[in-house]
Amino acid sequence: MTVPARATAPALLQIDAILSRLSGRQALGEVCRFLRHSFAHYPWVGVYRVDGTDLVLDAWDGAQATEHTRIPIARGICGQAVREDRSVIVDDVNEDPNYLACFLETRAEIVVPIRLEGRVVGEVDIDGNSVKAFDASDRRFLESVAAKLGDAVERSGAELPVG
Ligand code: SME
Repeated sequence: MTVPARATAPALLQIDAILSRLSGRQALGEVCRFLRHSFAHYPWVGVYRVDGTDLVLDAWDGAQATEHTRIPIARGICGQAVREDRSVIVDDVNEDPNYLACFLETRAEIVVPIRLEGRVVGEVDIDGNSVKAFDASDRRFLESVAAKLGDAVERSGAELPVG
């Protein structure tokens, strides 16, 4: 699937609007909701934050919760994006030995690092329900989204732990 070019600028403006009225974990939750409801091929959207040697799930929107609320950076596709400091697209999760399963429906995944002053502080993680759900248009769009989220992730880390 693809993110139509005409959808990109309005979506980024909506995200700016969210970030101007909310901060920290609330802002991240609202961005997850916005992305899920704006793009049919984004059925589960989460934001993980780097916490020492782990990734912690700070916000998400989707039909189901994931059991992977804390993932060692050494593991998973989520960990790979931090280790390699790059966006990772997996066309078919069943073919990737790195993949940590969350949902039965998931067939593809995209993970995009969130940086603050050059450091990876978190990531956007989206699970898709069809093979090859994500392409370069998703990567470009989500990299623009992620570029806006560094402050919200840092603030979220200063808030009380989830749960
Ligand atoms: N599939 C991820 C784990 C997180 S869930 O998709 C929400 C991974 O392999 O790291």
